[in-house]
Amino acid sequence: MFGPFVVLTGPLRFHRESPMSRPDTVIILAAGQGTRMKTGWAKVMAPLCGRPMIAWVVELALALDPKRVLVVVGYKADEVTAALAGLDSKQRIRTVVQAEQKGTGHAVQCCLPELGPDPGRVVLLYGDMPLLTAESLELLCTEQAATKDGMALLTAQPANPRGFGRIVRGADDSVARIVEEKDATTGERTLREVNLGVYCFDGRFLVESLPKLSDRNAQREYYVTDVVGMFSQAGRRVLPVEITDEREAIGVNTLVHLAEARAALQQRIVETHMLAGVFVEDPATTYIAHGVTIGAGTHIAPCSVIEKGCSIGAGCHIGPFAHIGEDTTLDDGAEIGNFTETKRSRLGKKSKAKHLAYIGDAVIGERVNVGAGTVFANYDGAKKHKTTVADRSFLGCGTVLVAPCSTGEGATTGANAVVTHGSHVGAGELWVGVPAKAKARRKSGSA
Ligand code: UD1
Ligand code: CA
Repeated sequence: MFGPFVVLTGPLRFHRESPMSRPDTVIILAAGQGTRMKTGWAKVMAPLCGRPMIAWVVELALALDPKRVLVVVGYKADEVTAALAGLDSKQRIRTVVQAEQKGTGHAVQCCLPELGPDPGRVVLLYGDMPLLTAESLELLCTEQAATKDGMALLTAQPANPRGFGRIVRGADDSVARIVEEKDATTGERTLREVNLGVYCFDGRFLVESLPKLSDRNAQREYYVTDVVGMFSQAGRRVLPVEITDEREAIGVNTLVHLAEARAALQQRIVETHMLAGVFVEDPATTYIAHGVTIGAGTHIAPCSVIEKGCSIGAGCHIGPFAHIGEDTTLDDGAEIGNFTETKRSRLGKKSKAKHLAYIGDAVIGERVNVGAGTVFANYDGAKKHKTTVADRSFLGCGTVLVAPCSTGEGATTGANAVVTHGSHVGAGELWVGVPAKAKARRKSGSA
């Protein structure tokens, strides 16, 4: 019925008639410091396309619809716990503290009081594997169900098995155990099949096995990987589920791996937008954070950055070399061109800032022209202030708007005008100079 080896081919899709066997508990290990990162951050807090790495993994866990998610925290636990807040509306996420990090097995041991004697089907993930897909995890769970009281684990055969634990097969080709690279013999290091650190266990046997782990190994750590050998020794099935899209296997241990993960996730994000009708001219130099919404027909020219919390309408034009900073909203047809930065701002329909501008903390109406070199001076050294620019205003080149200030409908500023804080450029008025003052408009046709 099920072969000894299940191969998934990319792009991963889940086509199984039986419904996915939902896990009862998902455990995510996120207590480690990540010494190989050399940054001092909690590793799982590494920024990845607009959110911390752990958020990607928690989202995956929730996609399996488990009854609960236990996140093991330790190093900088408060920061990691704070990042978990708000990720699940159903509030299934609980944290377990591993005060001292004595290995992945020890981390899971810390969950024993929460797990109880029969935690049902348990999925175990590491917080440093942000590229896994829900499809792979669903297959893992379905395959575990087929073993009845056994376990399943994800494996891969990457070109470079750097740092991964190797899968050791027994005489009958079943999985006998996992050996960590640091404990492996020269012969074992040549094994190509690696452990991705993603498991689905019969929870009862997991709970029985955990107290039996020992730290007699090269790293003096309790390895959860030793549980695999225990399943096999007890005559329970250990089913390897191989993934063939190598990018899913990226485990982030160093900043080099973080960059690889970012590139792979970025490609997924940009492709999703392109398939929804966003014209991304050069995906390789376009950065779009997780969660950004973009309407169809928007054109993004090369070397543009769109940060988290942004919402871009349809038919907009962005770039080249545009920086759409956090929490920017562009209404339909708005344009942000070369060397323009926006932040916490809204541009109304068909408004334009085509060259060299900074727009911060601004609410800009429809059909406004923001001239080249315009600066919204939103920061007074202590606080940020808001600027409001009403519909059809025209800001001349080099205008400086010292916030808080505002313009009325159809207002104009002359080139290099400095609108000082607290000023309001009245509807239809023209203000010029430094500090800017109202100037009578010439009547059309007069000399
Ligand atoms: C682990 C596996 C290895 C596998 C690889 C896949 C073990 C012993 N080894 O190695 O077989 O090929 O992942 O990426 O499991 N953590 C804790 N508490 C601890 C130690 C670690 O929470 O005491 C967390 C870390 O924060 C991290 C995860 O567990 O998110 C994995 O730890 P890491 O040290 O990165 O394991 P690897 O050496 O990569
Ligand atoms: Ca790792």
